[in-house]
Amino acid sequence: MYTFTDYYHNQVKLSFEDHPFSKEPKHVLVICRYKNKWLLTKHKERGLEFPGGKVENGETAQQAAIREVEEETGGLVQKIRYIGQYFVDGKRQAVVKNVYYAIIEKLVVKDSYFETDGPHLLKKLPKNVKYLGMYSFLMKDDVLKHSLRFIKENDL
Ligand code: GTP
Repeated sequence: MYTFTDYYHNQVKLSFEDHPFSKEPKHVLVICRYKNKWLLTKHKERGLEFPGGKVENGETAQQAAIREVEEETGGLVQKIRYIGQYFVDGKRQAVVKNVYYAIIEKLVVKDSYFETDGPHLLKKLPKNVKYLGMYSFLMKDDVLKHSLRFIKENDL
């Protein structure tokens, strides 16, 4: 279990165990890989981030992850796996979010990408993302660092 604070100084707990905080989390974050690149989306307000969002009524968290990737990037998921879960102790509410790792097989061009400007491919994620205004706050805490290390160490 890792404990750290996020961009807004909220406490975050992250674990790579099987659903340690909730069996039915309401949020998902999907680390996406497409043709040897990272696939992000450009959120209209928050900036560049991995796709994700809220689980809707009647769907599982994994179904939400696949849907959010398609809505925000046009990416069709070939393979997806749960890697971990985090808990954010927010000032107004607490959030539990599943983290997935997905391989994208195809990027479909769309007219609209909901609250985002669509896909954004990166060969490398910048090391100093914390200090770059064009990146979303979601990318600015240790969730990203630990998750990328988990993906690398487990050869996913
Ligand atoms: P809606 O207005 O209903 O869409 O939701 P919201 O703006 O209240 O956001 P949401 O329910 O997604 O999240 C509530 C709060 O939790 C946010 O304002 C953030 O402070 C925090 N939060 C949500 N997701 C994350 C995340 O991935 N990482 C971190 N560090 N905080 C998050």
